[in-house]
Amino acid sequence: MSSDELKKRAAEAALAYVEDLEVVGIGTGSTVGYFIAALSRIKHRLDGVVSSSEATTQQLKACKIPVLDLNAVGPLALYVDGADEVTRHLQMIKGGGGALTREKIIAAASEQFVCIADQSKLVDVLGAFPLPVEVIPMARSHVGRELLKRGGQPVLRENFMTDNGNLILDVYNLPILEPAKLEAELNNIAGIVTVGLFALRPANVLLLGTADGVQTLHP
Ligand code: 5RP
Repeated sequence: MSSDELKKRAAEAALAYVEDLEVVGIGTGSTVGYFIAALSRIKHRLDGVVSSSEATTQQLKACKIPVLDLNAVGPLALYVDGADEVTRHLQMIKGGGGALTREKIIAAASEQFVCIADQSKLVDVLGAFPLPVEVIPMARSHVGRELLKRGGQPVLRENFMTDNGNLILDVYNLPILEPAKLEAELNNIAGIVTVGLFALRPANVLLLGTADGVQTLHP
């Protein structure tokens, strides 16, 4: 079974978490693309959605799903998003698509974060996937030096600007021994907007698409 089929399985299973007349937060990426396709079948039951990126907004608009401003809707009951890596504690690396900052904001504003992923994303330890870090452009070199000091190898994502007008450094080989501690530490480096570690606010549920069906994991 291909990873796309497994992503689709996980995405379809997330529909069960959508309640009538609620506003749902929507992440970014190919797994989320399958979720949007599934959601469009029940869009008449929704008040609308909050989008985490321009790319997601375009997909939602193509499906005629109303996109609302987070400021206008207050706390959300549900956020659905994918991950680049996820552990059994439901801590994640995200930001492969570069949407980490808005994703983290919506996750923080949501009661329940349902992560949807194919089985290849489940890892014992985070960090084989390079850690995306969103950086204010003028701070690129300073932040790069700070990341080097901590043992990482930052690489500028080429020809890429985030929806917020910033840069992404993809950090290779960074030891992620205590994810929540490292997330807090990196968040404190001047010039970092967001780090793609989602450990302080992990997911509440992981729907993992496997060849045997969808596994539901809780931390
Ligand atoms: C985007 C993300 C995505 O959730 C992550 O990259 C997974 O993407 P995909 O579903 O395409 O495998 O964090 O910023």
